[in-house]
Amino acid sequence: MSQKEYINKIFQGDALTVLKGLPDKIVDVGVTSPPYNKGENKKGWLVKNVKYAGVSDKINEDKYQENQIDVLNEVFRITKAGGSFFYNHKIRWEQGRIIHPMDWLRKTKWVIRQEIIWDRMIAANIRGWRFWQVEERIYWLYKPENKNFIGKELEPKHALLTSMWRFSPERKNSHPAPFPIALPVRAIYSIMNDKNGVVIDPYCGSGTTLIAAKILKHNYVGIDISGEYVEMAEKRLQDYENELRCAQEEICKHIVLKTFKERKLNGEFTGRYKPNDKHNNSYYKQDEMNLFSYTKNVK
Ligand SMILES: C[S@@+](CC[C@H](N)C(=O)[O-])C[C@H]1O[C@@H](n2cnc3c(N)ncnc32)[C@H](O)[C@@H]1O
Repeated sequence: MSQKEYINKIFQGDALTVLKGLPDKIVDVGVTSPPYNKGENKKGWLVKNVKYAGVSDKINEDKYQENQIDVLNEVFRITKAGGSFFYNHKIRWEQGRIIHPMDWLRKTKWVIRQEIIWDRMIAANIRGWRFWQVEERIYWLYKPENKNFIGKELEPKHALLTSMWRFSPERKNSHPAPFPIALPVRAIYSIMNDKNGVVIDPYCGSGTTLIAAKILKHNYVGIDISGEYVEMAEKRLQDYENELRCAQEEICKHIVLKTFKERKLNGEFTGRYKPNDKHNNSYYKQDEMNLFSYTKNVK
């Protein structure tokens, strides 16, 4: 397939089938939230069940996990070495047994670089079998370059945003399970900084990742099985300027006054506790408080 055929396109079809038709090493970063295989017959007490147009979200769990492994390995193939993929999922329970995304992520070709907690602060199901589960997970998956499994460091302005991402669920979107635009903006901007590249979302739904990519001046590739959602995403992409302010709000959080390196060179607080040195006194405490108030301000 030539570049013209996939760049800035949304494919309507099954993710695995479409991915198989795409060339190797064309993507810099991806963000997605697949269907969770949650079972449409399980009711939450606060909101309606998630039901996608034209596709069931309940298949045999083993088959579901095999399919997710295949999809993730295809995304790995089409990602450039050094590229990243952000995979949003959640912990589920079936008949009291935990089903953790790590169960299948460890079987893929990706290096699992980080498990990020997405604190949504609210969720649909409030039964008392467990404490109210208001968090989801975002897995930062990494494709090693030259057998380097660690990869490059993030810029401090991104890394300081921590491994706990606090975004409320998206409410102004008629798709049944969209994520807020701040989520893909944070992921893409943190990896790409000011470089331009290609962003993929193989379950793009209403196109949130693709809008984020467009606002950040990247090319995109989207896939969704539902014609209705592909249309929704196309329409949103045309009107992407309506979402500039929300994306900008997230970008504004990526600032840092002094980098770790600068603080280290100046002998200032770097987060390391060393008894009996000048940092273990009021100077240290003051500096720690400055850093704390700084991070509070950028949140
Ligand atoms: C959680 S939603 C993604 C929502 C998206 N992040 C957004 O912000 O709008 C999952 C999407 O996967 C799509 N889907 C389900 N099965 C699929 C498949 N086999 N291939 C491609 N897309 C699929 C659904 O239509 C749905 O839009």
